[in-house]
Amino acid sequence: MDIYETDVLIVGCGIAGLYASLHIDPRLRVLFVTKEGADTSNSWLAQGGIAAAITVEDDPQQHFLDTLEAGAGVCDESAVRVLVNEGPREIAALRQMAVPFDLKPDGTLSVTREGGHHRDRVVHAGGDATGRETVKTLSPLAQTRPNTAFWEHSFFLDLIVSDGRVRGAYVYTEGKTRAALARCVVLCTGGAGRIYGRSTNPSVATGDGIAAARRAGAALKNMEFVQFHPTGLHEQGAPEGRAFLITEALRGEGALLRNTKGERFMAGTHPLDELAPRDIVSRAIVRELNQSGEEFVCLDITGRGRDFLKARFPTVYTECERRGLHIERDFIPVSPVQHYMVGGIATGLWGECTLPGLYSVGESACTGVHGANRLASNSMLECLVFGRRCAEHINAGTPERVPFSPPPVPSPREGDAVRAAAARREIRAVCDRDAGIIRTAAGMARGIAEMRGITESLDATPSADRETCETRNMAHTALCVLEGALSRPESAGTHFVERGAQ
Ligand code: SIN
Repeated sequence: MDIYETDVLIVGCGIAGLYASLHIDPRLRVLFVTKEGADTSNSWLAQGGIAAAITVEDDPQQHFLDTLEAGAGVCDESAVRVLVNEGPREIAALRQMAVPFDLKPDGTLSVTREGGHHRDRVVHAGGDATGRETVKTLSPLAQTRPNTAFWEHSFFLDLIVSDGRVRGAYVYTEGKTRAALARCVVLCTGGAGRIYGRSTNPSVATGDGIAAARRAGAALKNMEFVQFHPTGLHEQGAPEGRAFLITEALRGEGALLRNTKGERFMAGTHPLDELAPRDIVSRAIVRELNQSGEEFVCLDITGRGRDFLKARFPTVYTECERRGLHIERDFIPVSPVQHYMVGGIATGLWGECTLPGLYSVGESACTGVHGANRLASNSMLECLVFGRRCAEHINAGTPERVPFSPPPVPSPREGDAVRAAAARREIRAVCDRDAGIIRTAAGMARGIAEMRGITESLDATPSADRETCETRNMAHTALCVLEGALSRPESAGTHFVERGAQ
């Protein structure tokens, strides 16, 4: 077996991994393993921004209360305190690193509002390209650190565990499986949106870290909570896959939701109307669609002029224009799409998992800050706050390396692409039907039975090719979502169980 040794192995190169790596003691060697490049992550696609109480009109206590309200009574309050109190310092740090945040004419940060926030506190960059601008700044900083190596286009297969401790990971890279041994592993592998038919996530979001952590024996938490974004662009007859996101910041700038007859339907459902927390808006849209029999509702930003929209939302404006929509005069057809895994690998306040030697940060982790429903634009903030904390924890106490020979893995078998594609279709069909916005007890039980069948069949014929491994990870993650859902009979946030329905 080909062995590579490092101190800290980081899997995934979104904002969580990049930011953590920048705070690792430079005397420790860092290896990044990523399936593709830095431009293929949820972070890269993130439009809206980063929430933090940075203005004089705001304070962390109000951010704390908004986060708890959106989280529907399930948030870990100590984690939320850390998030809101340490958030402003991370925004200042990003400014120091030269992230090109949008500024007001007086040179202070421009802030907007999104769903569930009672103050304007979302900073943004490139208008609606906050994630891309942040990754573009952090990635070169990480790449040029002398202690850091990158294996791109390399697939993380599984964790290596020995004597109850994580020792590294098996990685499929350059045509062979290598053992990357490390004193600790940080999983920043993002979410698993691709277990659903339509998601805002890129194709790499297949739950690899969550599934591997579970196989290794780490605890997962809150897996039943899956966030659907209310406004994915609806495209007639679109195939399964990535849905283009229409950022919630449009509603922050005055966009209204209307049905296809032009009538508003959010008024009266929540005091914040269109800016209610996401789970509430998504459910209201589903109810509206069920009543009308239509496939989409409309987002109306025609109250704003073309120049404003082009400058403030260049990504949304251009993508809509490419599809023949002129958003200064046309309504935008939208419907809810999977967006974010709220649950994940259980961590403490320093990103540490229940399995010694393992950490997780970002969407793959569950710190508990999001409770049952994430407050808009708290996700990148979580990556920053807990990324730094994770690095500090590692710096303070990385265990000494002990001589260790990883057990060899079976030689890779040729994967069966047709079978993997068929299994993916089955996984998505089950998740869409039984683990969606509105769930039923009978549906969840049926989904579990079917998903167990799919996982058993994929487990029985392991293979090292990426397609098959990702599909297996999707199945394992989907099963955890369904099992978590069935184990929580009461509705909370994104987990809504319809009573008496079959
Ligand atoms: C958005 O821009 O609407 C998404 C931001 C987020 O997921 O917090």
